[in-house]
Formats: sequence, structure tokens, C-alpha cells
Amino acid sequence: MLVLGIETSCDETAAAVVTGTREILADVVLSQLDEHRPYGGIVPEIAARSHLQHIDRLVAEAMKRAGIGFGELDAVAATGGPGLIGGVIVGVMTAKALALAAGKPFLAVNHLEGHALTARLTHGIDFPYLLLLASGGHCQLLAVEGVGKYTRLGTTIDDAAGEAFDKVAKMTGLGYPGGPAVEKAAATGDARRFVLPRPMKGKPGCDFSFSGLKNAVRLLVESLPRPLSEQDAADVCAGFQAAVADAVADRVRRGIKDFKARWPIGRHLVVAGGVAANTALRDTLIRIGSETGLEFLAPPLKLCTDNAAMIAWAGVERLRLGLVDQLDFAPRPRWPLDPHAKKVGFAGVKA
Ligand code: KG4
Ligand code: ZN
Repeated sequence: MLVLGIETSCDETAAAVVTGTREILADVVLSQLDEHRPYGGIVPEIAARSHLQHIDRLVAEAMKRAGIGFGELDAVAATGGPGLIGGVIVGVMTAKALALAAGKPFLAVNHLEGHALTARLTHGIDFPYLLLLASGGHCQLLAVEGVGKYTRLGTTIDDAAGEAFDKVAKMTGLGYPGGPAVEKAAATGDARRFVLPRPMKGKPGCDFSFSGLKNAVRLLVESLPRPLSEQDAADVCAGFQAAVADAVADRVRRGIKDFKARWPIGRHLVVAGGVAANTALRDTLIRIGSETGLEFLAPPLKLCTDNAAMIAWAGVERLRLGLVDQLDFAPRPRWPLDPHAKKVGFAGVKA
């Protein structure tokens, strides 16, 4: 089986070809970082235009690297949401056009399902497993029971984990994107100099919260001499990263208890999403995994951040089950993995 995947939901334009036997034949990613950097964050209109400008070339490049023609594909998959709608429209329209022209099925993939199923592409594990999905827009604990079958055990009641990293980077003058910059600065910092709150620690359930921590960092930074010295910035980042890892550890421990009680045959704790690239967080999760008897698995860094191999793979999984979509599929800015999960947050609209 050969599936072409297209990813355009955020600030990476990506195309990949993946086989039914878990081989990645091509995986091309074009980051738009330089286009958004002057604005300190992603500008949706710029993102959409940039996807439109580059997607055809990237698809051609992926097909060339895979060494196949469109006629050899079994399906064309694209992220159908959730994400920045202008970008999602570009990817979906491209995939529909290719599928129609080549006479192949079209598959609309939930971006979060792409992240959620990556461990089956990289490690070939069985359902069910417990997933921590931590990205720029989400922070959720999910029981992954099957393709299209997810039970959300916890989610953030305010900001996503990656969003907090990005804001802290901005406050400490490290620029955009925040996650990698904060991690790099934290490596030379003293995590014990500033003690920051561990949001939700000890609270019932396994929901997350990051806005209070973000605010504590803001107040701390405001109390320090300006401009922030390199050492102060490093110490703030180290303190922040330690607080995130500690808070997430508490929530994941509770999530594991819940998961084991409800899905006792589950064997794996998996992490996915851009924040999964963070080494301090990975180390914490490895420790929790060994304490609780779950094997911890993390895809390689390149497959944690946004990519199209995960979309092509989710396409493979869906195609096997006959879950194809029609060409009238409408892109979805919001698309929760577990539609039955309770609503949280102030407006009750978080996915
Ligand atoms: O999954 P992703 O690539 O895009 C979304 O779907 O959101 O995640 C991007 C997020 C950004 O907020 C970025 O700052 C964060 O992941 N991130 C990290 C690291 N690398 C990326 N956060 C912490 N440590 C990292 N090393
Ligand atoms: Zn993502």
C-alpha cells in the first residue's frame, strides 16, 4: 500500500509517501519560521499564502524521492483539520485535486490523529496505549483504543504546553519559536534559583493548566533587572521547564492510574506533538514509565513536530478500514479526537 500525505495546518508545509509496511519513502518538510519570525508568532494569512506557493513543488519532490508516479498511489491523504483554516483549505484542495486526477480515494485526516498514530508507524505497537499529546495548540492525555477511537482522560483548561513555552521565550527575549530556544537556554540555567508554581499538582483528575505558570514567569521577569542578563534568562527558563516537567509528571501519573484501571491490557506510554521533542520532559516520562510498568515510547524528534509522514500513515490506517472521504469534505478548524469529552475552559470551546 502506498499513500501520499499532505500537511498544511500550521506553519510547516509538508508532503510524504508512506507504505503499508511502515516504510517512509519520502518525508519533505518546509518550515515557514523565517516568514513568521519578524511577527513573533504565526500569522495565519502569511501561512496560508506560503502553503499555496510551495505545496505543488513539495508534493512533486516527495513523489520524486519515493520514486513513484501518481498512478501507483493507493490514496491521497491530507490534514482536514484542526488548524489554521486557510492552510487546511490549501492542503485539502491539493489532495482532492490529485485524488480526482489520479482516480484514487481521498482521505481527510485529523491532524491530532496523525500525531496519535505516529507510534504505530515508528514502533508498530498495538492498541490500546496511553498518549500524552503536547503541541502548540493542545495538551491532552488520551487512551488510544483504535483508529478513530479515543477517550480523552485529561486536557488543558487554558493554554497548551507549547504555547506556554512560546510565551516564556518571548518574555525572556529568546524569540520564536519558543520551545527549542527555552530548552537550549535552560541547559545552562539553574532550575533551583527561581521556584515556580506546579499548576494542578495534587488536584483530582488529570487536566492540565499552564496560564498561571506563564503569569508567574511574567511577574518574575518583571521583577528582574532589564535587559535580562543571559544568566537570568537561562535560570528563568530552567525553572519554568522544571515546573512544566513536574506538573506534567503529576498529571501523567494520575492518567496512568486511570488508564490501567480501564484498559488493563495497555502496555505503552507514548508521547507526541512538538513539545515531545523536549528532553527534560522525555526524561521525566521515561522515569514515570519505568515506575509504573508502562514502556515509554517517543517517536524520533522529526516525527514529533509537524510532518506529513504521520498524515500519510494515518491515511494508511484509515484506508485499511475503508474509511475514505468524499470530495465534498469540508475542512474543519476544530475537530476534537474525542467528541464525547466534557467541555473545559472559559468559553467551553477547547477541542
Ligand atoms: O506539534 P507541533 O509541531 O505543532 C502543532 O501542531 O502545534 O508543536 C509545536 C510546538 C511549539 O509550541 C513549540 O514551541 C513546541 O512545540 N516545541 C517545543 C520543543 N520543540 C518544539 N517545546 C519544548 N521543547 C522543545 N524542544
Ligand atoms: Zn501538530
